[in-house]
Amino acid sequence: MEVVSLNNGVYLLISPKGKRLFCFVSDTCFRYFTPDTGHSYCVTSFPPVSEGVVVEEGEAGVIFSYEGNEVVIQDDLSVSASYLGTSYLKLEPRGHQEAEQGSELAAKEGHGGHLSTSAKGGIRIEVNAPVYGLGERTGPLDKRGYDYVNWNTDDPSAHVDTFKSLYQSMPFCMAHRGENSLGVFLDNTSKTHFDVNKTDPDAILIDYEAGEPDFYFFVGTIQKIIADFTLLTGRSQLPPYWALGAQQSRWSYADAREVESVIDGYREKDIPLSTVYLDIDYMSAYKDFTVDPNKYPDVKQWLERLAKESIHIVPIIDAGVKAEEGYDIYDEGIEKGYFCMLNGEVYHNEVWPGDSVFPAFLDPKVRMWWATKIKRMLDLGFSGIWNDMNEPASFKGPLPMDVIMGEGVPHSLAHNVYAHHMCMAGAQGFALAAKRPFQLTRAGYAGTCLYASSWAGDNQSIYDHLRMSLPELMNMSMSGQSYVGVDIGGFGGDSTPELLTKWAIASIFNPLYRNHSALGTLNQEPYLLKGDYLRGYRNAVMARYEILPTLYDELFLSESNGSIALRPLVYNFPEDERTHNENTEVMLGDSLLLAPALFPGQSKRSCYFPATFLRVEDGTRYEKGDHVIGVDLLDMPLFIREDGLAVFAPKGNRKAAPSSTLRLVWGGKKARCYHYEDEGDGLGYKKGEYNLYELEVSEEEGVRITPLYEGFKSRYKKLVVDVPGGLHMEEDLS
Ligand code: GLC
Repeated sequence: MEVVSLNNGVYLLISPKGKRLFCFVSDTCFRYFTPDTGHSYCVTSFPPVSEGVVVEEGEAGVIFSYEGNEVVIQDDLSVSASYLGTSYLKLEPRGHQEAEQGSELAAKEGHGGHLSTSAKGGIRIEVNAPVYGLGERTGPLDKRGYDYVNWNTDDPSAHVDTFKSLYQSMPFCMAHRGENSLGVFLDNTSKTHFDVNKTDPDAILIDYEAGEPDFYFFVGTIQKIIADFTLLTGRSQLPPYWALGAQQSRWSYADAREVESVIDGYREKDIPLSTVYLDIDYMSAYKDFTVDPNKYPDVKQWLERLAKESIHIVPIIDAGVKAEEGYDIYDEGIEKGYFCMLNGEVYHNEVWPGDSVFPAFLDPKVRMWWATKIKRMLDLGFSGIWNDMNEPASFKGPLPMDVIMGEGVPHSLAHNVYAHHMCMAGAQGFALAAKRPFQLTRAGYAGTCLYASSWAGDNQSIYDHLRMSLPELMNMSMSGQSYVGVDIGGFGGDSTPELLTKWAIASIFNPLYRNHSALGTLNQEPYLLKGDYLRGYRNAVMARYEILPTLYDELFLSESNGSIALRPLVYNFPEDERTHNENTEVMLGDSLLLAPALFPGQSKRSCYFPATFLRVEDGTRYEKGDHVIGVDLLDMPLFIREDGLAVFAPKGNRKAAPSSTLRLVWGGKKARCYHYEDEGDGLGYKKGEYNLYELEVSEEEGVRITPLYEGFKSRYKKLVVDVPGGLHMEEDLS
């Protein structure tokens, strides 16, 4: 095999089997791709390592080494790699593959085989270890035994374990082997397949249908791999503090009056609320960027009034634009040539407004134009943007593969990043309005979390989906999407009071805490609940409002160092095999654990504690191991590590805003954590207007607050330390 150094840290390999490019991205990451690979939609400027790489041509093939990472590429383009002497990757290329015989016939009846479409090429990685990542997926936390397709899909039927794709694409996964874990990212936006130890129990098979094999391989712990992957593709950004509060939505509240009755309902039943969403009916005839004046007569004034009451309103924006002459967005887009094209003509399909066209978001000019419209909404007083139907969804069959979605890119390659670019446009809108972004998106790709948070689409009001939400969100989080949630109570179908209440409790760690339901379903606003259901839901929201500072801390850390907020137990206890496929418990940060009820009638459950934990509500102590815990509707199954520390809001807090009391909930054994403080909104923190503290508490030394960075006038006046069921201490800080 011939090796040509391209002098920028990239090496060209010419073998009888084809050409490949190779470079190290860091000591723990390398890229393996082809000369035909185009530019990436999510990896922005990542200079290859250009100094210190040693290249040797040995019998086994070409050996690239850099700081302990050794990668051997053979003539047949297979790769083996080791880090500090331990092997972490064994890869063989796979050529073109035809669809399995008969699979098309089976697909007609809705049965999909592994290869229902033919693949251009792929790889086989020999590995058999717990697999995490792949973003928004049905099925268990450990993905082995399933195969997934990356093709953003709006399928309204009930999501079940065997679903191959949902709304988002995330061609990234990790095989967990401690220090020697392997991360794989296939930066290819075509339809790609990840067969995770399913057809081949000893291997992960990855195929792509178009485009090029642009692979990144990571080595390290799963924590390090997530941080490296998000450094490459983009990290979830700190949302405004209010966006962590309780959010209410429904398709659709009829008008301003009904929205106010929702706000009143919350108030009357003393349940905190920060945000209400406006679903599609707030628009005139489902036209983006319009507000129906009959339903919202003086929207600017109305939004101003609600803002004074700390209520934020977030409207939906759909990808499909109504094709109607005289509608400014349509007219301008047509005049400027800003819509997707097919065979030289503007492409039409149907979405909510009927006949619709689709902005060609891959074109930067289109994004800038869209951004000015987003700014218009923000200037009007809306607090955020909810992007929907951006797979893009279409009612008259899927968009043909050759629809051009901007910059000449065909749908076959643009589909999975269409929403990604819509969110980029939205983020530009927030920048123009000089606001801290709060954008929600249904569809997305690797790196979309840099621009928007996500909810996991149209789930159903069924216990299966309550249970599914935990591994689904944990794997989104393990794919670097830190700010995520699901529709609490379920979107489709009618929730029951018990399911709704259990869902509210099980979701208190979900960074996005939104109750949402579909048109035609029973109303599921919590204030409609009675008795213990109402009390249980309120308790859940109150618990949520106590842990807001920890959530905010974790989301800051996520943006700054690539850690994640919502965590599977394996993230914190990687060596403990019992955590490797734990689907019913979740953690927030290093210290907090939630083990909610997930079945009807369930008032007790077994819970595995990977260390000693204390129940926050009464201090009951559980040593490492299995225990039966109470999970009644009125119980809060929230635990803190004995050697854990987390910042809480004062008891009874009802505000989704930073507090002047620094309250530490402490497990009682020497512990430390980071804490972040800023304005709670705005862009000041990007200019350094924030404080970062290291907090340490121990019996011997008490509380130690060490500022690691100071750029903000602290608002803290009082320090409180609480050990569940024990010590309570207060101290003046002013
Ligand atoms: C889609 C969204 C859902 C929304 C509905 C109407 O189904 O996923 O959240 O309520 O459209 O806009």
